[in-house]
Amino acid sequence: MTIRKIITLPARKLRAVSEPVAAIDEDIKTLAADMLETMYAAPGIGLAAIQVGVAKRLLVVDVVRSEEEPPNPMVIINPEILWKSDEKAVYKEGCLSIPEVAEEIERPSKVRVKYQDLDGKEQEIEADGLLAVCLQHEIDHLNGVLFIDYLSKLKKAMIINKFVKSAKRAKREGKDSGDSAGKEPERSA
Ligand code: NI
Repeated sequence: MTIRKIITLPARKLRAVSEPVAAIDEDIKTLAADMLETMYAAPGIGLAAIQVGVAKRLLVVDVVRSEEEPPNPMVIINPEILWKSDEKAVYKEGCLSIPEVAEEIERPSKVRVKYQDLDGKEQEIEADGLLAVCLQHEIDHLNGVLFIDYLSKLKKAMIINKFVKSAKRAKREGKDSGDSAGKEPERSA
């Protein structure tokens, strides 16, 4: 398994709409294993393939992340939201592709999601709490949507501007702009 590089703002690739996974072959299995390792190393609670530069509809999630509980890695392929609750919930979200930013975002509090697992089997889950937030955040990534898109225009512009500036600075200084060694918000996805 390999830790892959997570792409960050202002990378345009984050806006790509990912393609369905046609066949769960060795490449997809390797990608899923690498993504889990990359997510745990970050650390984060979710990661979409586009965040490591692969425009495929695949994501990994583990919202357990507590020392006492065993890890609960999930590989989710070609997810589809079948139902969203009218009830909403607000969570402070972070994103591994938008380091050091955390903002309160309102989303439906429950979702039902259909997907394929690594064996190609159809699965359906009903999620609430942090898992519901994480699934919606990651599925958004597959459609080129970022959590900052839910903020006011001004707030979003300020965040993007900050990343554009630091990418320019890094380029001037000849540094790799994708390097995000800084501290991550506690629960980034
Ligand atoms: Ni994210």
